[in-house]
Amino acid sequence: MVMDVHALLSVCVGVCVASNLDTSFPLLKKGGDGSLFGLSVALHRHLRTDSYLLLVGAPREKAEPNVPANRTGGVYSCPITDDQSDCSRMKLVDPEDLVEDMWLGVSVASQGQPGGRVLTSTKMASKVRQE
Ligand SMILES: *[C@@H]1O[C@H](CO)[C@@H](O)[C@H](O)[C@H]1NC(C)=O
Repeated sequence: MVMDVHALLSVCVGVCVASNLDTSFPLLKKGGDGSLFGLSVALHRHLRTDSYLLLVGAPREKAEPNVPANRTGGVYSCPITDDQSDCSRMKLVDPEDLVEDMWLGVSVASQGQPGGRVLTSTKMASKVRQE
């Protein structure tokens, strides 16, 4: 199954309840071919920088180097910018816990408040981490 999913989202950041309701803008981020990048997305507010981030799951992403698996999936953290390729891969799982074809990032969720927890899941397990 080869699918190319891009995260095309309309994200409302900031004062969306003010007089101008039309403050949304399209946000386009690209991931690896066949990685199913964008299958899951969540908006998260980072505590240290007090900025919004987009968490993007790519459950068919290749494994990182030095991991004893070829394809693990991954979760990316994407700043809210118009750069399509500024996402960085998050280190959510210890390398020794990564197994072949685990579909990491099949779903992602944010607790919502700044510095809240980030939840991601695989085919077998869920992982919660404070960001
Ligand atoms: C990774 O791919 C190689 C080549 O296809 C294969 O021989 C190896 O068994 C795979 N590794 C895992 C952990 O599945």
